[in-house]
Amino acid sequence: MIRQFKRSDLEAILRIENKAFPKSPYNRFTFLYFARIYPDNFLVFVHEDEDKGKSLIVGYIIFYPEGHIVSIAVHPAYRRRGIGTELVAVALKRTSGKASVEVRTSNEVAKKFYMHLGFSIQTIIPDYYGDEDAVVMVSNSSKILS
Ligand SMILES: CC(C)(COP(=O)(O)OP(=O)(O)OC[C@H]1O[C@@H](n2cnc3c(N)ncnc32)[C@H](O)[C@@H]1OP(=O)(O)O)[C@@H](O)C(=O)NCCC(=O)NCCS
Repeated sequence: MIRQFKRSDLEAILRIENKAFPKSPYNRFTFLYFARIYPDNFLVFVHEDEDKGKSLIVGYIIFYPEGHIVSIAVHPAYRRRGIGTELVAVALKRTSGKASVEVRTSNEVAKKFYMHLGFSIQTIIPDYYGDEDAVVMVSNSSKILS
């Protein structure tokens, strides 16, 4: 299930963030800022663990209303199950398939992920991260909407 972020999700989101972006994780204040400014565009994926009878937050996406993806991450134990795809699909539905995202040039997994979703490389921004260039990837009419 995908729903809006709630304050009580914060610790789980921070755990995912630290695993996903160990070099430069967002901190709690950044997440709370996005939750305040874009409450409709900060979404979490809730996994229902039927064996343990509990719900776990296993991924999130933050995007701007016009479709710029600020960040997305899925807990490592839950990757390659289509969760990232579902999160991006919700964002794209709200933006009629338009989206853009910056990706570290070394982040081969993220580049493959976005290519799989129909994004293409638009340009490179030198030194975007201070220590690395960014690849800008864009989607105009995503195949996952069709
Ligand atoms: C990128 C990320 C969000 C993908 O989440 P996910 O839930 O694993 O993605 P999906 O299961 O929806 O993958 C969809 C497709 O993307 C591609 N893909 C995803 N992970 C991949 C990997 N490790 N290697 C190669 N291709 C991959 C595949 O084509 C995959 O389809 P398939 O599993 O049928 O082959 C996740 O790997 C992550 O959190 N990474 C760390 C944070 C990050 O880099 N975020 C993006 C920064 S902009």
